[in-house]
Amino acid sequence: MPYKLLFVCLGNICRSPSAENIMNHILTKADLNHAIACDSAGTSSYHIGSSPDRRMNLAAKKRGITLNGSARQFQESDFEEFDLILAMDRSNYRNIVSLDSQAKYQHKVKLMCDFALNYSETEVPDPYYGGAEGFDRVIDLLLDACNGLLDRLVQEEKIAID
Ligand code: 4NP
Repeated sequence: MPYKLLFVCLGNICRSPSAENIMNHILTKADLNHAIACDSAGTSSYHIGSSPDRRMNLAAKKRGITLNGSARQFQESDFEEFDLILAMDRSNYRNIVSLDSQAKYQHKVKLMCDFALNYSETEVPDPYYGGAEGFDRVIDLLLDACNGLLDRLVQEEKIAID
């Protein structure tokens, strides 16, 4: 059984699909796709069914990564389904844990930036209403945090490497 990661932002068209596709890219390079399964979701219903944002895709392409997927909304059953839920910012974090009515799953919910190695940001900034540099920043921050997250999962022996 692969270890299951769910990346979550507000719209599921910018940050969380980037995190999902960046992590898959890193896993492919490390030949670890069998060990970890990635998905993403938004806390809002605004963009259900939409492809990743075109500006986000452009920024990802500059780093050799294509963004696949269509937006879906986070749902309560995701708490059971996934091993670790990564919120992009504190607002996402609060929205996620507010759906955990019995406070059973808080241990599964973390902030993505907790895993960053080379960046001091504590949140992945929402790029939606800003310029192109904000989208580039999201990609670079997520590349770093995804590498840090994979290192941590290996260190903590959450995944099987054979
Ligand atoms: P995301 O970015 O949460 O990273 O997907 C946003 C996408 C859409 C909106 C806000 C943020 N919006 O307000 O529609």
